[in-house]
Amino acid sequence: MRIGSLFSGAGGLDLAVEEAFGGHTVWHCELDPAASKVLAHRWPGVPNLGDITAVDWSTVEAIDILCGGFPCQDVSPAGRRAGLKDGTRSGLWAMFAGAIAVLRPKVVVIENVRGLLSADGEEWPAEVVAADAEWARLARVVALIHSKINRAMREDWWHGQYKQRKQFELHRMVRLRDRALARFRTVKRRLVQRAIGTVVGDLADLGYDAQWTTVSAASVGAPHRRERVIILAVDANAARDGWDERWPESARLVGGSDAAVGGDGSAADSACGCGTDVAGCGGAPGQYGGTEFGAGDRDRERSASARGELVGRAAAELATVDNLLPTPAASRSGNNQSASPGAAVRPSLDSITDLLPTPRRSDGDGGANPLSRAERMDDVETRVIRLLNTPSRADGDGGHLSRSGARSGEPLLPGRAIEMAQAWGKYEPAIRRWEAVTRPAPSPTEPNTLGNPRLAAPFPEWMMGWPAGWVTALVVLGLISRNDALRIIGNGVCPQQAIAALRWLLHVQAVAA
Ligand SMILES: C[S@@+](CC[C@H](N)C(=O)[O-])C[C@H]1O[C@@H](n2cnc3c(N)ncnc32)[C@H](O)[C@@H]1O
Repeated sequence: MRIGSLFSGAGGLDLAVEEAFGGHTVWHCELDPAASKVLAHRWPGVPNLGDITAVDWSTVEAIDILCGGFPCQDVSPAGRRAGLKDGTRSGLWAMFAGAIAVLRPKVVVIENVRGLLSADGEEWPAEVVAADAEWARLARVVALIHSKINRAMREDWWHGQYKQRKQFELHRMVRLRDRALARFRTVKRRLVQRAIGTVVGDLADLGYDAQWTTVSAASVGAPHRRERVIILAVDANAARDGWDERWPESARLVGGSDAAVGGDGSAADSACGCGTDVAGCGGAPGQYGGTEFGAGDRDRERSASARGELVGRAAAELATVDNLLPTPAASRSGNNQSASPGAAVRPSLDSITDLLPTPRRSDGDGGANPLSRAERMDDVETRVIRLLNTPSRADGDGGHLSRSGARSGEPLLPGRAIEMAQAWGKYEPAIRRWEAVTRPAPSPTEPNTLGNPRLAAPFPEWMMGWPAGWVTALVVLGLISRNDALRIIGNGVCPQQAIAALRWLLHVQAVAA
């Protein structure tokens, strides 16, 4: 099966699609220079078509599967929620649909954030714009009256009659505002299609039957939640020439009974496709947890089977976890959203452990952190560093890992950072679970130029389930910066998560066919 990849990033989704369908990627389409370097390094010789808006699809090599996660800033709750309107980044969905129309792949795989289920899929019609303007106006009036009342109380010119009049006015305006908000919501619900509706509707117009599901990274054992929507669409008119019978084979790869669980680091390394295909090829050991993943040719056959093993380990370990732990009750999930059709690929393991925040692209914004204070308290770097000691003068004392004198034996910051790989506080169960599924966790921190701890890019790379050094070896080689690596990782897809979703959707397709 020949795979074409759009919005490829560092190829996390491509790894999953190659694995689930047993295919190989014949071209990428990625604009970002740093991500493009990762692709060139990991898929040597595979062309990158660059900016999707400039591609003439009639000149592009035919493929069987087209996959991609179109940019999600506008549909993510963290973004502007401008939906899939033309001219927005998520409006690049229109480019994706254009590629499908010309290339006519048998299968389309789409990945996106959960916001796709709730964001608006099209521009608001005039009636919705008017309803929105009306409730926004009333909200401003309510805020104004509130501030008048507050000022009156502060300046002590509050007296009985004034108070009564203002409070009456406030209650009336609050009622009007709430009614206007309810009207806006009703009109919007009636007239504006959600983003998932637009995508699935466009696929139907193109002659594709689509199934979709949501899966969290935690539900395949990762130590963070990261919910994603995966859509699998099949050309309804194309001959079923046997590709759809492959799914049991991919299921075998995912859940192989001979899969090794636990084991030493070398087994884990080869299982994740790094030690096997590029061992000893130039990554600098040490700085990035002694990884041997570096530059070099990629033997697709061997690495595909190695990646199969990786996923096999994941599934076998999860089976063990499932056997040992009680099935989590819905009330423990801490998630009030109702399950989407087919969303429950397996019991929600994320409800049984404390999870780290999911890596995000802003991790790579190099100091110019655009997150709000509340968001910053909840990013990987802050949480990881909060687990550490407060830096002290003694930390600079020539490589000592623990204090001397009266407090001898107490770890200094470097010692604590080293210990953290063994002592993760409340995150320990989540970390250990993913270690058993993938490989030992790399050190979460590294010293910055001042010697203070900062997030080490290999740690979120590990959280994402990517092979050791998949992106960060390029930092060691000086091809991309640490900030680029963090941004690319934060943008990426956890392959194990996508494979779980694809397995499920292939099963649903097979049953439906
Ligand atoms: C959500 S990320 C994809 C992540 C990827 N699936 C992975 O697993 O690493 C979206 C990607 O689309 C790329 N992109 C944005 N606009 C693009 C364009 N006009 N043409 C090609 N790629 C684009 C971004 O650079 C980004 O890497």
